[in-house]
Amino acid sequence: AKVAVLISGTGTNMAALLYASRQPGSAYEIVLVASNRAEAAGLALAEAEGIATFARPHKGMERADHDALMEQAVLDAGADYIVLAGYMRILSPEFTERWHGRMLNIHPSLLPKYRGLETHKRAIEAGDPVAGASVHLVSSELDAGEVLGQTEVAIRADDTAETLAERVKLAEHQLYPRVVNEYVGRIFDGEWLLGQLRDLAL
Ligand code: GRF
Repeated sequence: AKVAVLISGTGTNMAALLYASRQPGSAYEIVLVASNRAEAAGLALAEAEGIATFARPHKGMERADHDALMEQAVLDAGADYIVLAGYMRILSPEFTERWHGRMLNIHPSLLPKYRGLETHKRAIEAGDPVAGASVHLVSSELDAGEVLGQTEVAIRADDTAETLAERVKLAEHQLYPRVVNEYVGRIFDGEWLLGQLRDLAL
C-alpha cells in the first residue's frame, strides 16, 4: 500500500513509520510526507531520506481549502492511505468522510480517555496508574474513531507531563508501524470493496 504521512512537528512517529517500512515484508511504503508547517523538522528528515515532501502553511486559508490542497498532494502522490502523525489540524468533515477507513491517527492517551490536548497532564492529575497511546481510524468527531491498537505506559510517581510524554513516544514508535502494517496489509478490505461497488453503481 502507498501511504502519505501528515505531520506538523518533529515527526518522530513519521521516522519510525519510515524506517519500519524498509524492513523486509512491510505492507506499505511512504510516498509522501506533507505538512502545514514548512519548518517542521520531519520534512527535512523525509527529504534526506529521499521521500517526496509537500508543505503548505494554513495561515489565512479556509480550513476546507487548505484540506483540499493537502488532499490533492496526497492524490498526486498516488497514496491510498493517509497516516496522521502529529498533524495538529482539525480536518473538515468532508475530508474525513471521503477518507473514512483509509485515514489513521495516533493519539497519546488510552482512548476513549482524554480526547483532545494535554493528555499527559490530565492523566497525571487524575492519578491514573497508566497512560498510553492509541491508533485509531479518523472520523469527523475528534479522536473518536474506531481504535485499532493501544499500548500502556506506566505513570511514575515523579512523572511530569514532559517525562511521561517522552516514554509514551517510545511506545508510539513501536505501536504505530505495527498497526499501520497490519491494517493496510489486511486481506479482506470490506470498506474498500464497498467503495468500489458504490463507484460502479454511479
Ligand atoms: C505524538 O505524541 C502523537 O501521539 C501526537 O502528536 C505527537 C507527535 O510527535 N498526535 P512526533 O511529531 O511524531 O514526534
